[in-house]
Amino acid sequence: MSIKKENFAKLENGDSVELYTITNKNGASVCLQTLGAGIHSLFVPDKNGVLADVVLGFDNVSDYVNPDYGYQGLTVGRWANRIRDGKFTFGGVTYNTPKNQGTWTLHGGGKFSFTVWETEKTGDNFVTFKKFSPDMEDGFPGNFTMRVTYTFDDDNTLKIDYSIISDKDTVANPTNHTYFNLSGDNSKTIEDHYLLINADKFTETDSDQLPTGELGDVKGTMMDFTSMHKIGDKIDEPFRAIIDGVGYDNNYCLYNKEIGKMSQAAVLFDKASGRKMEVFTDLPGIQLYCGGWLDKNYTAGKNGSIVKYRRGVALETQFYPDSVNYPDIFPVKFVKANEEFKTTTEFCFTTE
Ligand code: BGC
Repeated sequence: MSIKKENFAKLENGDSVELYTITNKNGASVCLQTLGAGIHSLFVPDKNGVLADVVLGFDNVSDYVNPDYGYQGLTVGRWANRIRDGKFTFGGVTYNTPKNQGTWTLHGGGKFSFTVWETEKTGDNFVTFKKFSPDMEDGFPGNFTMRVTYTFDDDNTLKIDYSIISDKDTVANPTNHTYFNLSGDNSKTIEDHYLLINADKFTETDSDQLPTGELGDVKGTMMDFTSMHKIGDKIDEPFRAIIDGVGYDNNYCLYNKEIGKMSQAAVLFDKASGRKMEVFTDLPGIQLYCGGWLDKNYTAGKNGSIVKYRRGVALETQFYPDSVNYPDIFPVKFVKANEEFKTTTEFCFTTE
């Protein structure tokens, strides 16, 4: 294993963004960026051993901080996904978070992802990024320090360990927002990827995609990925939890999930290249988002590639969206003052 550091670019505010590339014995590599503690690129082999980049992203650094471009590869916090009315009550106190989309909070208000993180530690096979968020930043309680450690190994597994410490009890829902296209060619739609999700329920949502507190059964609906089939098979079927034309952007409730215990959440497979990705997590939910809100015209991506509608699929491990408003109904664990809160997600790449 080896690690290499390079300069990427400067943000408009003058902050410079660095890249760390970890390469394993097979030549597979992951490139991590200090901006948003993000995944910048990920080269893994196809069934013939040919390496290609399987994640979307940009050469133009400012595209990463444009919320309309979908948080490509970034770490999301303090609370990923939605908070209804930008408001929640926790420990008897009501907190107000930014309504950065419609009437709700999306991805903690956004700022958390769009800053350069400190690089705390690196080794041949890992990088630890660190970010401090002061008490009441974006309305969230607690002086809050989050660390994200990426570890890559010779078996082509990328592990993400999140560690949080706060001086007050608080809430946290960290995730990573990478868009995968296992073909390595993002002119190809992800509708042809095969997917399995280990969930027989999903969180029901209203017309603003905000949870209603109810869980729906996937059985007999277009939401069912309990056996592996193409994402595109039913993506445009009309269904109550789907916005027309957008396709999947839903939280699945992983079955038999014990918070803190790792298990397989999803399997994504591209038949043509033979690349397969398994997602493991210790969290109870996973958001399937197929890039349906991305521009139908394209945005220039890395190395002449494109970022566009349905050209990447995000599998965001998480507590269910808006769990802060359903602590008695949804499975959730909060951060206790001065106690380390940890969660882990793994993306494992093989071929078939
Ligand atoms: C959300 C989408 C959103 C995307 C990019 C996903 O987690 O569910 O609605 O468009 O993130 O912000």
